[in-house]
Amino acid sequence: MNNWNIIHIDEMNSTMDYVRKHLFELPNKSVVWADMQHRGRGRGKNTWSSPKGGLWFSTLFKNEDVSDAWHITMAFSVAVVSTLKKYFVDAWIKWPNDVYIKNKKIAGILVENVIKGNQTSQIVGIGLNVNNSIDEALEDKATSLLQQTGEKHSIKSMLTMIMNEYDSIDWETLYERWSQSSFRLLYTNVKLIDVIGEIHKGKVMNLFEDGSIEFKEESGEKIFKAGSLIL
Ligand code: BTN
Repeated sequence: MNNWNIIHIDEMNSTMDYVRKHLFELPNKSVVWADMQHRGRGRGKNTWSSPKGGLWFSTLFKNEDVSDAWHITMAFSVAVVSTLKKYFVDAWIKWPNDVYIKNKKIAGILVENVIKGNQTSQIVGIGLNVNNSIDEALEDKATSLLQQTGEKHSIKSMLTMIMNEYDSIDWETLYERWSQSSFRLLYTNVKLIDVIGEIHKGKVMNLFEDGSIEFKEESGEKIFKAGSLIL
């Protein structure tokens, strides 16, 4: 990961907010990594529990085409899955880009586009439960690498492995790898919460290259570009 500008700080509110605040000073391809976050943010209005022992970082891409944001997140979810597979855990992607082990979430990815003046940037935040404890309230829904393997792991090595996986992504075969890791969702009964908060009951029938899905519900089949799924 030599081509990345790595900034490691012990604690902060959120690596997303840090990158946003220092957008002008930080070069393209910066990685801001914190040992713990006081106000970790998840997708939507969710908070993200980020105690010591987990891997919490954000990457900055400056002047990338906004339409690329989806491919960057797709690449990171594939990179996280490949890294976890090296520890012999069977990780899979829950659309659009949550990483799961069985029915519990181990990692989440958050992407934000920032437009300032004539510059567009993407900040991609990744949270991976490594050795950290899981909040009691989340025990049924979340897991960590420690829980899965019974051993503690080096956070720095996890970061290096994820970034190396990202750097070696073959963009030609990315969609294939992403869909192979996401197939577990297909044809099973799930609920989809759309962007306006409406709940749809049905099955995911297809996952497309642009990140949209075909969803079959009683009233018919629809394409959703965004939303979140409940297993
Ligand atoms: C989600 O699944 O809801 C996305 C979670 C993203 C969490 C990471 S941890 C590092 C970065 N900083 C934050 O405040 N959030 C992201």
